[in-house]
Amino acid sequence: MEINITALPGDGIGPEVTAEAVRVLEAVAEKFNHELKLTTEKIGGVAIREFNDPLPDQTLAACLNSKAVLLGAVGHPDFDNHPPHLRPEAGLLKIRNALGAYANLRPARLFAALADASPLKASVIEGTDMLIVRELLGGLYFGQPRGEQGDSVINTMRYSAAEVERIARVAFDLARKRRRQVTSVDKSNVLEVSRLWRQTVIGVAKDYPDVTLEHQLVDSCAMALVARPASFDVILTENMFGDILSDEAGAVVGSLGLLASASTGGPVGLYEPVHGSAPDIAGQGIANPLGAILSAAMMLRYSFDLDAEAASIEAAVERTLAEGYRTRDLTVAGEPSVSTTEMGRRVIAHLS
Ligand code: IPM
Ligand code: MN
Repeated sequence: MEINITALPGDGIGPEVTAEAVRVLEAVAEKFNHELKLTTEKIGGVAIREFNDPLPDQTLAACLNSKAVLLGAVGHPDFDNHPPHLRPEAGLLKIRNALGAYANLRPARLFAALADASPLKASVIEGTDMLIVRELLGGLYFGQPRGEQGDSVINTMRYSAAEVERIARVAFDLARKRRRQVTSVDKSNVLEVSRLWRQTVIGVAKDYPDVTLEHQLVDSCAMALVARPASFDVILTENMFGDILSDEAGAVVGSLGLLASASTGGPVGLYEPVHGSAPDIAGQGIANPLGAILSAAMMLRYSFDLDAEAASIEAAVERTLAEGYRTRDLTVAGEPSVSTTEMGRRVIAHLS
């Protein structure tokens, strides 16, 4: 089959980790007899430098012409003082919106070999296997009005019932393929938006009597995530809460560098590691490529229905870690580690 994708390496460590994910895809395509058709375009800071636009028309057109998009990361401190529309992050928000990618799936599972890489005790994290379902096109990230208003600056948290309902259905559907438990996270003791969120989720749950629903306030969820991470199955939450909780989940399972994500809901899927551009370590060849590689696996599964291919990547990652290979983020000071490219090579060597 034809695997027609656009790669957007972006900024910071984005190009380094995306290169490894692409190498893995090339190896999988060869093994399973698929044709990989890859276009590479610019997004974020590198696109602002070249085109004065974080999402150039050419980039968007290429994405809309492919079946899926593999993104590295955007963001660089050089743009910290730029106006909002000329920041790298604006490119990411625009492409999420243009692709209709409202459902961001962020799995966080503990690899057995990494039980000692987490800052938490092995006994606490044992069995951790959660899926954060983050609403991606609403809330504070997109709510209007926003910006300067006289001597103040405002952002707006806004959700319609329809927006909550569609993401809730994604979470319940996915829970049916897992342990049938949804934890909906809000701040309904304070926010009206969260009260609509909770009411709407309760309504959707009526269609899923086989799935257990619980509600948690976001502050309490942040605590429970480190106190009893293994108790979570599907976490359903709005855009900003999901952004924060997913970084926390990364630390729980050993490193944010491991987390992959799929942004789905529109005609073209968007796949990106959860970590950012990490400008502090960019260009040193030490970034963890596993989040990007596992995002490529999610892409094969969700956009191309290639389950065996996705599973072979995931198994290769698991075996690589089981053999003790670690990038620097997975080690403590002084322990040996491998480079970004070496980690990629190891994964490819383990593909079956
Ligand atoms: C993420 C990132 C992005 C977000 C930034 C880079 C805009 O932190 O994907 O989690 O906040 O969604
Ligand atoms: Mn984030």
